[in-house]
Amino acid sequence: MDINIIQNLKNQAISSILEAKSDKELEELRIAYLGRKGKITQLLKEIPSLSSSERREIGQIANDAKKAIEQALINSKKAQTAKKIDVSKEWLDVSAPGKKPQIGNTHLVTEAIQEITTIFEKIGFTRVAYPEVEWDWYAFEGLNMPENHPARDVWETFFIAKLKSKKYGEAVLTPHTSSGQVREIEKRKPPIRMLNIAKCYRRQSDVSHSPMFYQFEGLHVEKGINLTHLKGTIDYFAKTFFGPNRKIRLRPYHFRFTEPSMEIDVSCDVCKGKGCRLCKQGWLELAGSGMVHPAVLKNGDIDPNEYSGYAFGFGVERALMMKSGLKLDDLRLLYTNDLRFLKQF
Ligand code: PHE
Repeated sequence: MDINIIQNLKNQAISSILEAKSDKELEELRIAYLGRKGKITQLLKEIPSLSSSERREIGQIANDAKKAIEQALINSKKAQTAKKIDVSKEWLDVSAPGKKPQIGNTHLVTEAIQEITTIFEKIGFTRVAYPEVEWDWYAFEGLNMPENHPARDVWETFFIAKLKSKKYGEAVLTPHTSSGQVREIEKRKPPIRMLNIAKCYRRQSDVSHSPMFYQFEGLHVEKGINLTHLKGTIDYFAKTFFGPNRKIRLRPYHFRFTEPSMEIDVSCDVCKGKGCRLCKQGWLELAGSGMVHPAVLKNGDIDPNEYSGYAFGFGVERALMMKSGLKLDDLRLLYTNDLRFLKQF
């Protein structure tokens, strides 16, 4: 069987279909080519009797021709139907209100991150970004938390299976932005004023915790830095972000990578500091902080006798929940992607 015959038949069929002026003509063409006694149907019938070497190639070409003709018929039918719509009977009310296009907006968390970045930029902190999949050295060891130290339990870490470095240990999903402290001091010389805002991961989920969340970490290392600088910086942030009437309180605590260490509380906006269901006697726990431990500075080849610094780490979502006037009572709502919730803000 000649391949050219099949191709010619196909071309002939398609050009007739394109020229057809009515549904009736299209139907006649369908019968002529694809009907029970149609030209293409006849060809296809002959295929089983071909030699096996011919059968494959010719069978394929004949089938393709059939499909192309079927498609041309479908397209032309559609075009015929479209032509039938009587434009003179179409009606348009130009005064009818249009349909509003849906306009998106930035997510609450994104907005908070932008606001936090701007607040700290004003006092000279530069935003940085470091890996989300991090080595043990940066997440723990370099922060003065030796292997098997019980303090590590607090971070409820996700480990990456089968990924290990001889030098830096196991791979983890960053459980806190403090890993950025170690990365920063190994990369830069003081003065350092870093703001690391990143996703963090921990095995936790309840009204005030989700397994993935954001933290922002400040690190300031320079000559002559002391606790009053930490307090002043946090106070400035709290007043700008939460509102001018909010107060902060530093409460002694313990972290391996700061000494002394403090937790930062902010006064509760719901009861105005009197004490309510939401807070602990008028105060809400907000962040961890402290003066950078000399061992951490040494890990970045910074002489702790010459330089000192402070660091703090906040949860972004947590900070957002404590903003004045924002009634957000379950942190996980931020990540359910329910537009009915998100559109309220
Ligand atoms: N990384 C600590 C946490 O996630 C917070 C912290 C940051 C504490 C910086 C001290 C200094 O809990």
